[in-house]
Amino acid sequence: MPVTVVVGAQWGDEGKAKVIDLLAAEHTHVVRYQGGHNAGHTVVVGSERYALQLVPSGVLYPHVVPVIGNGVVVDLPTLFKEIDTLESRDISCVKLKVSSHAHLIFPWHQALDALYEAGRGDERIGTTLKGIGPAYADKARRTGLRAGEVLDPTAFAAAVRVQAIGHNAEITALGGESLDVDAVVQQFAELGARLAPYVADTVELLHAALDRDDALLLEGAQATFLDVDHGTYPYVTSSNPTAGGACVGTGIGPRYLTRIVGITKAYSTRVGSGPFPTELHDELGDKLVEIGHEFGTVTGRRRRCGWLDCVMLRKAVRLNSLTELALTKLDVLDTFDEVKVCTAYTADGQPVYAVLPGWLTDISAVTTVDGLPEKARALIRLVEQEAGVPVRIVGTGAERASFVSWS
Ligand code: GDP
Ligand code: IMO
Ligand code: MG
Repeated sequence: MPVTVVVGAQWGDEGKAKVIDLLAAEHTHVVRYQGGHNAGHTVVVGSERYALQLVPSGVLYPHVVPVIGNGVVVDLPTLFKEIDTLESRDISCVKLKVSSHAHLIFPWHQALDALYEAGRGDERIGTTLKGIGPAYADKARRTGLRAGEVLDPTAFAAAVRVQAIGHNAEITALGGESLDVDAVVQQFAELGARLAPYVADTVELLHAALDRDDALLLEGAQATFLDVDHGTYPYVTSSNPTAGGACVGTGIGPRYLTRIVGITKAYSTRVGSGPFPTELHDELGDKLVEIGHEFGTVTGRRRRCGWLDCVMLRKAVRLNSLTELALTKLDVLDTFDEVKVCTAYTADGQPVYAVLPGWLTDISAVTTVDGLPEKARALIRLVEQEAGVPVRIVGTGAERASFVSWS
């Protein structure tokens, strides 16, 4: 039965949430499979803008069951703030399920994230400081606490205390300020009690849905080149956003995946440190930031901008078994006299560009292939040719309806 995966094909913020919102209309469940509140997923419907960090981007549809899978690391204060904000805007989260195996983020993870970053000096990763790396480290160390543990409040409180004391030792050794253990235990007793009704065996739930021939949509956060195995290590996140991670992070085996959609902007952006071969350090880069509103949804940081890199896109196709692409933010290029696309690197790693004439037309209201200027269509065809997979969706604006079904 159909399982669709949406995965970032670049360094994040490709417009995954907008595509997920679009595809969610024809799916029953939308499942986050990795990452945590380092994600900032924006959905725009009419004049309403929703910025999601943990709640799956299908939540706006009453028919969708939003699921936080076992591969996610969950920050409870953020989760509940998000639920409260959504419900105050009449978006119900009552159907939300959180995997009992999802690991929890605690204040010590955030403290350590900041201390590790400070310790790296000029080599800092530029993390979101949300505690993601330290939380996944505890998971790998087999000391992390999982969502299911809140179902036994006494044992959970005792475990939180042990963890708080243990991590305080490391925090103070690194020159940080120790956390108030009693206060954290109390805070998490309350948060745990609130989480309990959402906790579920999501593997069972998702397989029951598959047995009913329901259509599932697996929502990636971050992106291929932030993958801890396949990205630009060490300038990566601490999970596996690539499509294989969707299987591990949900408990759905690879044979179920039928449609794997890679999301790429018509140009490139990156937040934080690390290699970026097609980065622009000139006024064209500034223009992309300005027109594309390239500031992080989570941290507000200015995103680094550059031209689309098809060498990386080809690699993303391979790493994820992409069946198709969604090419987003094409409208951002409307006023560029020429548009460059990197098609190869020189022997010493410099990008080689195909240069296309700009279309110099506002495409933000275009919803049909015929409505797109021929020069914009030429760019889309070049991307398909370079990537070796078809483009199916073209983004022409932030709003839900601003897209073209390309092929
Ligand atoms: P995600 O993390 O991949 O879900 O992407 P973000 O939400 O962090 O960033 C994408 C930004 O671009 C958001 O502000 C979206 O509303 C916006 N966006 C998405 N698709 C398009 C598009 O086709 N055109 C324009 N102009 N904006 C878009
Ligand atoms: P979405 O889902 C863009 C980047 C951070 C940093 C690196 C590691 O909105 O696309 P972390 O806090 O995860 O340890 O930071 O990864 N990063 C993102 N960049 N979009 C994201 O999420 C990101 N999540 C993390 O900037 O470079
Ligand atoms: Mg984002």
